[in-house]
Amino acid sequence: MIYLAPLQGMTDRIYRNLFPAYFKGVDLAIAPFISSSKKMKPTNNLLREFYPDRNTGIPSIPQIMSSAPVDFAKLANALYDIGYGTVNWNLGCPFPMVVKKGRGAGLLCCPDSVEYFLEKAMPALKPKLSIKLRIGLKYPDEVLQLIPIFNRYPIAELIIHPRTALQMYEGEVDLDIFEQCLNLSQHGVVYNGDIDSSGKLEMLSKRFGSINRWMIGRGLLGNPFLAEEIKFRAEKPYDEKIRILRVFHDQLFAEYSTILSGPAHITNKMKEVWTYMGSFIENREKIRKRINKTHHRDQYVDVVNKIFDELV
Ligand SMILES: Cc1cc2nc3c(=O)[nH]c(=O)nc-3n(C[C@H](O)[C@H](O)[C@H](O)COP(=O)(O)O)c2cc1C
Repeated sequence: MIYLAPLQGMTDRIYRNLFPAYFKGVDLAIAPFISSSKKMKPTNNLLREFYPDRNTGIPSIPQIMSSAPVDFAKLANALYDIGYGTVNWNLGCPFPMVVKKGRGAGLLCCPDSVEYFLEKAMPALKPKLSIKLRIGLKYPDEVLQLIPIFNRYPIAELIIHPRTALQMYEGEVDLDIFEQCLNLSQHGVVYNGDIDSSGKLEMLSKRFGSINRWMIGRGLLGNPFLAEEIKFRAEKPYDEKIRILRVFHDQLFAEYSTILSGPAHITNKMKEVWTYMGSFIENREKIRKRINKTHHRDQYVDVVNKIFDELV
C-alpha cells in the first residue's frame, strides 16, 4: 500500500481530487491537519472541506492536531458522522508555535500527557484512531517510551517518520530507532521519510521485511509517477511524463483559479506547487527561477506555457 503524506498547503482537497485522474498507485492519503477547537460547530467550514461529495479523489483520512481529548473527540466524531471511519492524530508537527503549546511533536517528550489524552479520548471516539508521529522532540529515543502506551490501546496503525522535531525535514532518518519501534509495537506500522525512488523503497523493504505500507510526501509531489513506478516497475518515457504533468498542472491551475481571487494569489499558489513539482525535469532549478520571477497570472501562464513547450 502507498499512502500520500499530508503536506499542509500542498495536498489539499483539490490536489487529492485531481491526482488519481493522472497518476496511479496511491491507495490512500492522510489529509493535512486541522485543529480542533471548543467553538467547533457541525456547520463549520473545516468540516465542509471534508464532505464526501467534495472529496472524490484519493480516499483520505482526516488528520487532527490537538492536545485536548474532549475537543479532539468532538471533531473526530463529527468527521465520523459525515463518513470517515478513521481519523489520524498528529504527533509530529515540528513548528515552534505548535510545539510550545504542547501539540504535535510537543507531546512526544511527555508520555504522561499522551497517556492522559488516549485515556480520555479513546472511549469517546466513534472512528478508529491512527497516529502519525516523529521519533522525538529533541531526542530520537523518546518514542520508545510511547510505544508501550500505544500498545495498551486499540490503535489502527502508527505512521512513523523517524526524525526528531529538531531535525525538521532534514538530516538522516534514524532507521535503527525505527527498527526498535517496529519490534516494540503491537500495532501495524507505516514507514514514512525520504522515499524518492523505487530503489530507496526496495532498500527499505529489504531491511524491514514486515512492512507493506509506505507513506510518501515530497517524493510523490516531486514525481507523481513514483507510486506507479514502484508498483508496476515501469517508467513512462520522459516526454509522456511531461505531457501528463502539463495537463495535471493546467487542471490544478484551473481549479485553484476558481477559489483564489486576484492575479497574484493564484500565481503565489502555483509557485508553492512548484516548490516540489517536477523533480524529474531536466533543468528544474532554472525553471523554478523563471517561474518565481512571475508576479501576475497572465505572466505566469505565458512563462509556464513556454517552459512546457520547450520541454517536449
Ligand atoms: C510543507 C510541509 C507540510 C507538512 N504538513 C504536514 C501535516 O499537515 N501533517 C503531518 O502529519 N505532516 C506534515 N508534514 C510532514 C510530511 O507528512 C512527512 O511526514 C514528511 O515530509 C516526511 O516524508 P517525505 O520525506 O516522504 O516527504 C509536512 C511536511 C512538509 C514539508
